[in-house]
Amino acid sequence: MFNVLKGTHDVIKDEALKYSYIEETLTNIAINYGYEEFRTPVIENSELFTRSVGDSSDIVRKEMYTFDDKGGRSITLRPEMTAGIVRSMVNAKLFAMQDFPVKAFYCGPNFRYERPQQGRYRQFNQFGVECVGVSTVERDVETIVLGYHMLQFLRFRDLKLLINTLGDEETRENYKKALKEYFGQHIDEMCNDCKERYKLNILRILDCKDPDDRPIIDKAPKITDYLSDAARERFEKIKEYLTKLEIPFEVDSELVRGLDYYTGVVFEFHYTSSNGNNYGAIGAGGHYGNLVKEIGGPDIEGVGFALGIERLAKIMEDDQLFPEINRNVEVYVMPIGEKAVQKAVEIAFELRLDFFRTEVCYEKKSMSALFKKAERKNAKFAVIIGEDELKDNTVNVKNMLTKEQVNISMQELPSYLVEKLDQNEHQHEHSCECSCCEGEECEHDDCDCDNEEGHCCCHHKHDCNKA
Ligand code: HAM
Repeated sequence: MFNVLKGTHDVIKDEALKYSYIEETLTNIAINYGYEEFRTPVIENSELFTRSVGDSSDIVRKEMYTFDDKGGRSITLRPEMTAGIVRSMVNAKLFAMQDFPVKAFYCGPNFRYERPQQGRYRQFNQFGVECVGVSTVERDVETIVLGYHMLQFLRFRDLKLLINTLGDEETRENYKKALKEYFGQHIDEMCNDCKERYKLNILRILDCKDPDDRPIIDKAPKITDYLSDAARERFEKIKEYLTKLEIPFEVDSELVRGLDYYTGVVFEFHYTSSNGNNYGAIGAGGHYGNLVKEIGGPDIEGVGFALGIERLAKIMEDDQLFPEINRNVEVYVMPIGEKAVQKAVEIAFELRLDFFRTEVCYEKKSMSALFKKAERKNAKFAVIIGEDELKDNTVNVKNMLTKEQVNISMQELPSYLVEKLDQNEHQHEHSCECSCCEGEECEHDDCDCDNEEGHCCCHHKHDCNKA
């Protein structure tokens, strides 16, 4: 008997369906904002992260899964995805070939050797975006707005958006000097980690979680008091835009983020479930000024964020934010007797080619046991094939909802199901609870989108089809 490793978890069945729902929804929104998908390897050269995330960060110092491969190279399981995405852009020479910005979205697992706790895993998934090659305020704003929009779409209503700025070079130099002076008076009383941070990168002291150090850190100088004129103006502009777009935010002058590549604006999204559970930030990001150059690319800037899928899913479960996701069996094929089993194989093959969600029971069971199985699977139709049906090339089809049963020819089966399944769907029609409809009846009559069946104009998947 093997168990999952500490800090990892299996995602199976309904939970996996919910992860897919989140990922598909976020993918659709990212595409609407003009992002293209990037997939990069889970393993990278360790140096990629020491250079980008930074030697002084907790991630690099304590949390990376690093090992030497059989060729003696130092390899790391990615602890985050921004560095790999930017590396892939540099390797593919996208900055030489393409109009700026290069816009990537991505999704996948990351690994950090952290102390597992609520909402914190050693293997976790992120969905993120990077917009690289431009440094305008508007791109920063667009990126924050995209994160906000994504979370609104997933029905996170009382979102807390925290923002801060790490300013420009001049700001950070002046601020670091002020911190050196302040912490110089207290460092002897602080934890060993802080003593090291004091030497390596004094900004990292602000991330310290040690409760004994917090009172000292809380009284430390604030970066907002050291902003250069240019940095202050830029931050003001971001705040003005967010206010104009009616996106609520709070300035948190202690927010510095735990990764070294940030310069300029940084932000985090927080949310507390109605049962009081707080899993930490559900998403976070910021502007990076030197990362591309650090990784071997040109001197251009970027901005991005990543959302934590596990945390989103947990909160959405707690607060029942998921719409009904229906992948139940549509047709349950029930052969009675050995010869019928052969026919069932053929019928299931044809139905699946026609995209009916089909399940078959090949095992010998009584009729009542077969119906019980069909009910447990919430099947919409049972297709029964017995000796008589085999002889005259027909099937019995039972509507599991209305209990109506008909005998039809095998050839008629697909068109019969199409017609009846539509009716069945329409009986459940206004069960749509997507945020665009707010639980009200979907008015697809005046919706002129061309989405697939089962998707309404808002891209939410649910039972009701376009009327
Ligand atoms: P991060 O703040 O380290 O930023 O992670 C982003 C999000 O990933 C967090 O807000 C959280 O939801 C989730 N997360 C992080 N660690 C864990 C964990 N141990 N267990 C579960 N969820 C976790 C980054 O990774 C940056 N690359 C974001 C970014 C993109 N900045 C610019 N572009």
